[in-house]
Amino acid sequence: MNQIRQMTIEDIPLVYEIERKSFPYPFGEILIGSLYFGAPKLCFVLEQNNKMIGFLLGGYTPIPKQAHILSFAILESFRGEGLGKELLIHFLNQLKSSEFNSVKLEVNVDNKKATELYESLQFKIESRIRKYYQDNSDAYLMIRRKE
Ligand SMILES: CC(C)(COP(=O)(O)OP(=O)(O)OC[C@H]1O[C@@H](n2cnc3c(N)ncnc32)[C@H](O)[C@@H]1OP(=O)(O)O)[C@@H](O)C(=O)NCCC(=O)NCCS
Repeated sequence: MNQIRQMTIEDIPLVYEIERKSFPYPFGEILIGSLYFGAPKLCFVLEQNNKMIGFLLGGYTPIPKQAHILSFAILESFRGEGLGKELLIHFLNQLKSSEFNSVKLEVNVDNKKATELYESLQFKIESRIRKYYQDNSDAYLMIRRKE
């Protein structure tokens, strides 16, 4: 059974484990902790049979009423089953009830799967950020505005 719930402090080590397994240049555990404390209400985990298999770390930006997706991953063996989309939709629905006008994120230009997922939920590519990642690869800045 799948369950999406708000992240808690106790989840930080497991979120870090999924982050570490999902990205070539993962955020460290301490950074994940500070991002969590920056916006605990915008951080979610997805569990299957009480085991965490995904997370989404959200935050704020300096722009009023704009949320930021800081990190988002599903454990590899559970990908392609619609769980990432479910978690992202849950996050967007939570924002609807509060006063957010837009959501932004950065995604590696080579990450076709994630880019298509975001486009399927009305995120639009706004610009390309050169050398955004540690290996000098570029990112797309994507923004979803309230319809
Ligand atoms: C990105 C990620 C979170 C998506 O999670 P997921 O559970 O695998 O995604 P889903 O099964 O929900 O697929 C959602 C959508 O992705 C797209 N998608 C899925 N597989 C795809 C593929 N092989 N090629 C292109 N698009 C694909 C589709 O738009 C799909 O929607 P649809 O099923 O309605 O057509 C997951 O792949 C992941 O953790 N990747 C590594 C970390 C990462 O890249 N995070 C994003 C950082 S910006």
